[in-house]
Amino acid sequence: MRQKLMILLTTLVVLGLLAACSQADENALVVATDATFPPFEYIDEATKDIVGFDMDLMDAIAERAGLEINYQNVSWDPLLAGMADCQYDMAISAMTITADRAEAFSFSDPYINAGQIVVVGINNDTIGGPDDLVGTTIGAQLGTTGAMEAEAIAESSVKVYDTYELAFLDLANGQIDAVIADYPTAVAFVNQNAARLQVVGEVFTDESYGIAFCKGNDALIDQVNAALAELQAEGFIDQLVITWYGDAD
Ligand code: ARG
Repeated sequence: MRQKLMILLTTLVVLGLLAACSQADENALVVATDATFPPFEYIDEATKDIVGFDMDLMDAIAERAGLEINYQNVSWDPLLAGMADCQYDMAISAMTITADRAEAFSFSDPYINAGQIVVVGINNDTIGGPDDLVGTTIGAQLGTTGAMEAEAIAESSVKVYDTYELAFLDLANGQIDAVIADYPTAVAFVNQNAARLQVVGEVFTDESYGIAFCKGNDALIDQVNAALAELQAEGFIDQLVITWYGDAD
């Protein structure tokens, strides 16, 4: 009898703790990210954690601003739609600040610059940069600024993929002529497959990344911008570039 009572009490305590935990989780702000985009956000194969430049930055901001956050891994295209619908409180996902996006949701101050670059097969000696892409088949991740740049090239046929990993795989297999992607990410994928891929030409767009917010959350945006400014002034972001880009800069 006494034993049964103990088991019952223990069960109640455990249930109470579980409820308290999920309560804390419910209060945490949901930060969406498409963790397929090294070195900014990707899954560490060994630990299965979401890691990268953006996580280090967001974690530091959260600590400064006293925010509790939970990352949610969401594919890029639904992430953009979800931000517009306020399904997430924030998103950090190497997201270029564009006028169109700024109509659907809000952005922090910019935290880093990263333009587009062309990647081709290692044996390709006809494409040396964006000017040589006229009439070619170009791959990019669906809904990215890279895909928009690809569309803007005359007579291009654009193939969009759910992730950049798939686009680079098709390029390595000779299915497409080129990929247009953010420079640090292009370098990260080329480094994973340097026997088959190469970066060509110069960065040809000027883009800044921002943290996205569900519209109307001005107090949170102010808190994040204040923390971001402090971290920038302290050289924390420069340090992240060194840590995560390696020789890409
Ligand atoms: N900077 C580009 C854009 O905003 C690509 C970002 C893709 N990010 C990602 N995590 N997949 O369109």
